[in-house]
Formats: sequence, structure tokens, C-alpha cells
Amino acid sequence: MLAPGMLKQVVSVTAQSKASSCFKLLSLPLLSPSPCRIPADASFHSTSFSEAEPPRVLITGGLGQLGIGLANLLRKRFGKDNVILSDIKKPSDHVFHSGPFVYADVLDYKSLRELVVNHRISWLFHYGALLSAVGEANVSLARDVNITGLHNILDVAAEHNVRLFVPSTIGAFGPTSPRNPAPDLCIQRPRTIYGVSKVHAELMGEYYYYRYGLDFRCLRYPGIISADSQPGGGTTDYAVEIFHAAAKNGTFECNLKASTRLPMMYISDCLRATLEVMEVPAECLSMRTYNISAMSFTPEELAQALRKHVPDFQITYRVDPLRQAIAESWPMNLDDSNARKDWGWKQDFDLPELVATMLNFHGASTRIAQAN
Ligand SMILES: NC(=O)c1ccc[n+]([C@@H]2O[C@H](COP(=O)([O-])OP(=O)(O)OC[C@H]3O[C@@H](n4cnc5c(N)ncnc54)[C@H](O)[C@@H]3O)[C@@H](O)[C@H]2O)c1
Repeated sequence: MLAPGMLKQVVSVTAQSKASSCFKLLSLPLLSPSPCRIPADASFHSTSFSEAEPPRVLITGGLGQLGIGLANLLRKRFGKDNVILSDIKKPSDHVFHSGPFVYADVLDYKSLRELVVNHRISWLFHYGALLSAVGEANVSLARDVNITGLHNILDVAAEHNVRLFVPSTIGAFGPTSPRNPAPDLCIQRPRTIYGVSKVHAELMGEYYYYRYGLDFRCLRYPGIISADSQPGGGTTDYAVEIFHAAAKNGTFECNLKASTRLPMMYISDCLRATLEVMEVPAECLSMRTYNISAMSFTPEELAQALRKHVPDFQITYRVDPLRQAIAESWPMNLDDSNARKDWGWKQDFDLPELVATMLNFHGASTRIAQAN
């Protein structure tokens, strides 16, 4: 934790730093209009890293649905040895041999600090968390990992001048938020420990930015759909599981109602957005927490899109009341116009492309061929 003495140190170190003194930051208007306008056709895909040295990256909670893919993307960009994956789980042989991996528990502040110092970490992606459904099943652990863990990460990052990315979620909105679409700034009164912890993360990150000059960046991810990694217990997991089921036996039992509309995104768009928002010059960011969006659909619409490839695909519904209640408190759509305006965010995958890509990955070609 940041002891009072350390707080003073952070303030004075930050104040002395020529690039980002908190005095300079404190004099900024709270949400200034972006001084940077990125052309509509801007693409970050081919941007080359312009700084003299690539960042030294640490990913916490990296063995979940998103972390390994993020490590692969960052390693291609910054070099294998510059990206350290960490978690409290044992990595598979493949992951262990594909680049640096270390054990890191986000509840252990001292070890986190040791890691950041020993490896000269300059960018940190904080993925360690308990997701919505898992969090409701274990509130005290979710509170520890998602809130105390975040405090440790914020302190280590602020002390060591580390650029910090923390993902937030559609779960940071609640039943009193505008739902179609939810804008970046609105009432946020979530009713899950996951949502509460993510609103806390957004607010604490922004507070550390204004108070200590921490370069905090945050995206609210929709439900993320991936082919080669399993979801970790979120309310949108059905949209991943449905593809496994379609490819395997052509039937799926859905735990949400047919009409439940939620925002979703393909993993490669999510990871690219994450890299983009970390690379974009600070002066382009008019805010520190952005919605990003790609598509929005219901289970029934997803099933219909699947039937274009697998005509005999069947979906049945056995609603899980916990997940259904969570889903009904979340937005149906996200307004991501600020991300599009400030740093040129644009998705590559819409629903038809997502379905084709997922089925292709799961080797549904046999079923598709049979159907044709
Ligand atoms: N997957 C999505 O659809 C989605 C959507 C919105 C936001 N997010 C956010 O993105 C991040 C990554 O999500 P994910 O889907 O990969 O999650 P996941 O549940 O699949 O993985 C989370 C990882 O955190 C690790 N972890 C748990 N306790 C830890 C601790 N004490 N110290 C270190 N690691 C610990 C777990 O072992 C796990 O590997 C999370 O912060 C999540 O809230 C994900």
C-alpha cells in the first residue's frame, strides 16, 4: 500500500518530473475538449513504435480469456522478452515456452513492486479480476481481488511512473443508467460487486491521474467473444459457448432469455483497441475512461446468424435468474463516439464476420459442408 510517506514521495517525484507534474495536471480543466483530432480514416494497424525503446510490459491475471491473446499481440509489437505474462495459476507448457511468465498475486503489494522494479516495467495491463457471475458467487474474494488488488496496482504504478491500463465493463452501468445507448458519462449504480468494483477502478484511476499524474487509461469492454480461450464466468459467456456447441452437436441451451440484448465484441478488436489506447498520445485523450463498441445482439439474433452456416442449429432456453438479472441491468448498446473521435477507434468485426470467423475456428466446416 502507499504509506503516507510514500504518498509525499510520489507527489514530490511527480511534481519534479518535467513531463507530468501534478501541478500541471491539477491546473487542467477536469474534462478538457480534446486538442487532438484524428482523421476518420486513421489506422493504428500499421503505426510503428516511435519511442526510442519499446515499453517493458507486465500483464496481471494474464491466463484468463483475454491475457494470452494480449501478450501475443504485444510481443509481436514490442518483442517477446519485453512482455511478461503473470497470474496465480500454472501456465500450460505452450504458454510457459512462448515468452516470460511469472507468478504474481495482485493482493501481494510487495511482490508486485519487486516485479516492477526488477523488470523495469513501464506499461502495466491489469487483467486480474473476478468477473460478474463468479464475483456474485464469492463476494468477499471479488472485493479483495477487484478492489484491494486494484489499490496495490495503482500505488505501484504511481510510485514507479508506469502507464496503467485497467479494463472496465458494461457491468459498470446499472439499471438506472441509460441503456440504449449508455454514454461515457452518466449515472452508474451497478448492483453487482463486479460492477461496483469496476466503477471504483474507473474513479480511483482518474483520481490518481489528476492527483499524482498517473497515466491511467481505461476502456469499458463489451462482452468479449473468443475462439481459442475460455470465458472466465461472465454474464456474456453464452455468446462464446454457443459456438462450441454449434460446432460440436448443433444444439445449445442458453442461460439468458431469447430477447436479451447486450453489446459484444470479437477479441481481436478488443485487444487492438487496448493497444491503440495505450499508444495514443496523451494530448489526444479528452477523458481517461472510454466506452468501446462493435455490435449488439440477442441470443435469438445470434442463433439466426448461426443458422446461415448451420441451418439445423437448435437453441433452447433455460434461464439462470442470477445471470438474467445481471444482464437486464446492463446496457443494450454503448455510445463510443468519444473513442471514435479522440483516437480513431473503429471495429473490424460485425456479427456476420464474427460468426464466420468463430465457426471457421471451431472446425464447423464439416457440418457446414453437410448442410450445403
Ligand atoms: N472477458 C470479457 O468479456 C470482459 C468484458 C469486460 C471486461 N473484462 C475485463 O478484462 C479483464 C480480463 O478478463 P478475462 O475475461 O481474461 O478474465 P478471466 O476471469 O478469464 O481471467 C482473470 C484472471 O485473473 C486471475 N486472478 C484471479 N485472482 C488473482 C489474483 N489474486 N492475482 C492475480 N491474478 C488473479 C485468474 O487466475 C484469471 O486467470 C478483467 O479485468 C475483466 O474484468 C473482460
